[in-house]
Amino acid sequence: MNDWPEHALAAASHADPYPYYRELARQGWIRDERLGLWLAASAAAAQAVLASPACRVRPPGELVPAALAGLRLGDTFGRWLRMSESPWHQPLRAAVGAAFAAMPLATVQACAHQLAAAFLADRAVTGKRLDALADYLPAATLAALLGWPEPAWGSVAAQVAALARALAADADAGARASGEAACRDLLARLASLPASGWLADWRQAFAELGDASLYANLAGMLFQSCDAGAGLISAGIAWRCGAPWDGNDDAEWSRRLQADPVLHHTRRFVAEEVELAGQRLLAGDVVLVLLAAAAQDPAGPGEAMDFGRGRHGCPGERLARAIAKGALAALEAVRPDWEALAGSIRFRHLPNARIRRFGAGEVR
Ligand code: HEM
Repeated sequence: MNDWPEHALAAASHADPYPYYRELARQGWIRDERLGLWLAASAAAAQAVLASPACRVRPPGELVPAALAGLRLGDTFGRWLRMSESPWHQPLRAAVGAAFAAMPLATVQACAHQLAAAFLADRAVTGKRLDALADYLPAATLAALLGWPEPAWGSVAAQVAALARALAADADAGARASGEAACRDLLARLASLPASGWLADWRQAFAELGDASLYANLAGMLFQSCDAGAGLISAGIAWRCGAPWDGNDDAEWSRRLQADPVLHHTRRFVAEEVELAGQRLLAGDVVLVLLAAAAQDPAGPGEAMDFGRGRHGCPGERLARAIAKGALAALEAVRPDWEALAGSIRFRHLPNARIRRFGAGEVR
């Protein structure tokens, strides 16, 4: 018990949070007074919260974080599929789904492989270089697929990282100012891209929703790919450090993600009194949906929950996996020192995602 994470927000970066998660899953619902949160830990509780229209992705009175009010970043955030609820959510989800479906997965994987191979050919494959690859590749691959020419890939990835820093819970005024500048520039660059190829598919999918929604959701796609995508790539690399595994096998990804998830929880804000999986929740309650615990619930279906479920479940799962597959294939070809990399693994201190770093202890 002493080795358990201090609380649910510390579990994603803990060396072995899984006995703790299994115990929480057994309990189902837990009220954590110190965090001021409900924990939905069993598969039944997690599924019920994700399916309930009473449980919203944003606090009902604060659809855009107060600190972003009046900013272009705030307006963009408020238009994201991820932050939307009925009646806007459903048409947005259909449009994003259609745009994603228009892009063949083989093209995504080949593009990611090519970008990763070029990135790794550039200099020695150190732990820091792998961390940089995981941070760069998801947004850079999507940027390339949208039609940006090569010199732009790195700067798009950097702008998306600036958005992520500005939206973090501990962002200060400086991070918000940098995020605002990155957001304005990114939207302007998206609007000036020639609307051919995949971007033409996006335009068509968003024809009814308008340009502001289109560009905001393109930026939203890039943002969503960033941290979670880095987590997926670094998990695949960490598992390879242990022993060779078939990164092209989707069932194997699912099995491994169930046992060792990347995305550990998401939040919901209760808009009206509701009873879910035997627990009464009141308007104003905040629920941490413990995807990582639910995936390991012995009473559940024993399936990975990394990509969420239900109304807001991840529409980018297959794209994210294709990017990670491309990264792993490119890395395999350069034959890194897997054993040395295995010994250097640390976790980023993020509350909700388990993202490995391989170069944290390196001097350079
Ligand atoms: C190419 C990379 C990715 C893209 C473009 C993408 C896109 C998205 C989008 C647009 C949503 C919002 C869906 C909605 O609200 O209806 C979403 C949700 C989600 N994504 Fe992804 N995603 C990517 C990678 C990942 C990865 C790698 C993971 C996990 C390791 C992940 C986990 C999730 C989860 C758990 C949700 C649901 C969050 C919730 O219900 O609160 N995504 N994603």
